Amino acid sequence: MNTQSKPRILFSRVEVEAAVRRLAADITRDYQDKHPLVIGILKGSFIFMADLIRFLDFPLEVDFIRLSSYGGGKQNSGKVKVEQGLRSQVKGRDILVIEDIVDTGITTAFLIGYLQQKDPTSLKLCSLMDKPSRRKIPVNVDYSGFIVPNKFVVGYGLDYDEKYRNLPDVYIVEGD
Ligand code: IMP
Ligand code: MG
Repeated sequence: MNTQSKPRILFSRVEVEAAVRRLAADITRDYQDKHPLVIGILKGSFIFMADLIRFLDFPLEVDFIRLSSYGGGKQNSGKVKVEQGLRSQVKGRDILVIEDIVDTGITTAFLIGYLQQKDPTSLKLCSLMDKPSRRKIPVNVDYSGFIVPNKFVVGYGLDYDEKYRNLPDVYIVEGD
């Protein structure tokens, strides 16, 4: 990783895979008869979602939504916009939202409200990581892989200024 300071691995790829498998086992228990619509929040969730659904051995559909809330750095601007909407019908479906990390909660709280208005049968949230110390809006993470400290993390889909998404492990960006 190419930041000025020394990169530090927070979760290795082995630890990430173990968390993904554990989440997949929990989700399988709850959804195997439900044929859910699994909705990934772009871009951060794309690697996590791709790995997770390959451990889900039951019928499901996938869709993606692209939201923007960050100005490009580490701060949430507080305003969420749908940049690219869903193609699938949400009404009457069991919806599982996949997020990379819940930080202030602004993004996921917005999306949960947005989807709730479309009248799904059920709506749950799965996030690889959860940073509860930063929460501004309460959000219930139904399936959470890791609780993370108040640090900015990159890798495994997560970016800093659009870089580092391709790193297979999760790193802390030092100098926060
Ligand atoms: P929230 O709206 O503050 O909860 O932020 C959610 C979004 O911000 C996530 O979808 C991430 O894309 C991004 N984000 C929050 N914390 C981090 C981080 O530590 N590293 C990379 N992206 C983050
Ligand atoms: Mg992001």
